[in-house]
Amino acid sequence: MIFVKALFSIFCCALVCGQEITTPSPEELKLKLTFGVDLGLPIEYDIPEDATTPYLVETRDGYPFEKYDVVTEDGYILGLHRIPYSKKLKNKRSRKPVVFLMHGLLCSSSVYVINGPNVSLAYELSDRGYDVYMGNARGNTYSKRHVSLSPNDPKFWIFDWNEIAIYDLPAMINFALKKSKARNLQYIGHSQGGTVHLVLNSVNPRFRRKISSAHLLAPGCVMSNTDSPVFKGMAPIFGQPNEYASQTGFDVQPTNETIDLLGQQACLQESEDKSICQNLVFLITGYYTNNLVQSNINEILKTVPSGSSVRQLLHFSQVVQSKTFGQFNFGEEQNVQKYGTSTPPDYPLKKIKVPTYFYYSENDIIISTTDIDICASMMSRKAMKGKRLVSLKTFTHMDFVWGNKTVSRKYLYKNLFKDLRRAGR
Ligand SMILES: *[C@@H]1O[C@H](CO)[C@@H](O)[C@H](O)[C@H]1NC(C)=O
Ligand SMILES: *[C@@H]1O[C@H](CO)[C@@H](O)[C@H](O)[C@H]1NC(C)=O
Ligand SMILES: *[C@@H]1O[C@H](CO)[C@@H](O)[C@H](O)[C@H]1NC(C)=O
Repeated sequence: MIFVKALFSIFCCALVCGQEITTPSPEELKLKLTFGVDLGLPIEYDIPEDATTPYLVETRDGYPFEKYDVVTEDGYILGLHRIPYSKKLKNKRSRKPVVFLMHGLLCSSSVYVINGPNVSLAYELSDRGYDVYMGNARGNTYSKRHVSLSPNDPKFWIFDWNEIAIYDLPAMINFALKKSKARNLQYIGHSQGGTVHLVLNSVNPRFRRKISSAHLLAPGCVMSNTDSPVFKGMAPIFGQPNEYASQTGFDVQPTNETIDLLGQQACLQESEDKSICQNLVFLITGYYTNNLVQSNINEILKTVPSGSSVRQLLHFSQVVQSKTFGQFNFGEEQNVQKYGTSTPPDYPLKKIKVPTYFYYSENDIIISTTDIDICASMMSRKAMKGKRLVSLKTFTHMDFVWGNKTVSRKYLYKNLFKDLRRAGR
């Protein structure tokens, strides 16, 4: 076990809803690195049975639910979830448009159902007549299996969101299309769920045939203007190749002291419960209670964080540090072997052909409106169909999936459903 003190002295502030967020100082940002077989495991938390997606959909909410094992080209076994029809509409037999929902970093399919019918996006879509699939990325609770590797083997965890984009998305999307006998589907992704759409479709523009439109909620793309204390704190050290980042596998966890400190900062309101802000997801995205379903916060906390590889965090740190949206930086020597260039190539966003919409907000401490503008300008005018800035000033990164009924319907779903209908014609 090694304790690393961050070696940087940048001090930055951001103003979010009148509160200053500071990047932790070198003394404050203490990270614990564990090498070897512990790889990835400490960011895996047990999810109690009554907080799993199958339980929530079938048992708690009484909706039809199906789950499938989908094997990727490189051997990961993913849990693909589906609400095939609506219990309200009783539309089992009729033909339905297919929609595919992809979660963000440290999350799972549960983000789209946790708040229940009439609120959560998967149900709202189901009750509007969609055939709803929910993906699960390799490494999370539902996708921690492989045809030959054990999750206790460090090799299992050698991936980041590049692989989720290149292998997991095609495997799950192809499966869904076949299962539903559909030619194409509409894609919705939150945060890293947006990132992987951008990666897949820039690397493989032919996916346009299978995705009729994409609707990205606070997508991670260029991130040079992020205000997330965790990413800003990590970027100078982990955002470039070094002796730690070049290890094939390791796990990084904030120490308790760091969690305490960042937890204080992650609370965007004086009155908030500081202990909730220490949940890794809120630690990264900030915690602001107003727009959440108050009664559901303890339920939400049971479902996150779900598993992720450390490399996913490192790759985002690199994106923050490099001010570009590029492939994983292994260090010069390995980059040359892998990419043929000493620096990793950028993802060619100009090549994306899928009509794509962005939904974003001002009170999002991870995804800044400036970065959204930069990202949109890197795409072709033909693919970039629309940018929808949420007009509620307090709307946060996690409100896109966890916002309460009033806020979700008024500030997000109204635009989103209109865009889906128009783009799906
Ligand atoms: C959802 O709304 C409908 C109609 O407004 C209502 O009948 C139903 O009970 C609500 N469901 C839940 C779980 O709140
Ligand atoms: C860190 O906090 C956790 C949870 O509160 C506790 O179980 C653990 O013992 C603490 N570790 C140290 C080194 O204090
Ligand atoms: C939802 O959030 C809005 C905005 O913060 C708030 O005014 C409203 O009371 C909340 N509604 C519920 C049902 O929690």
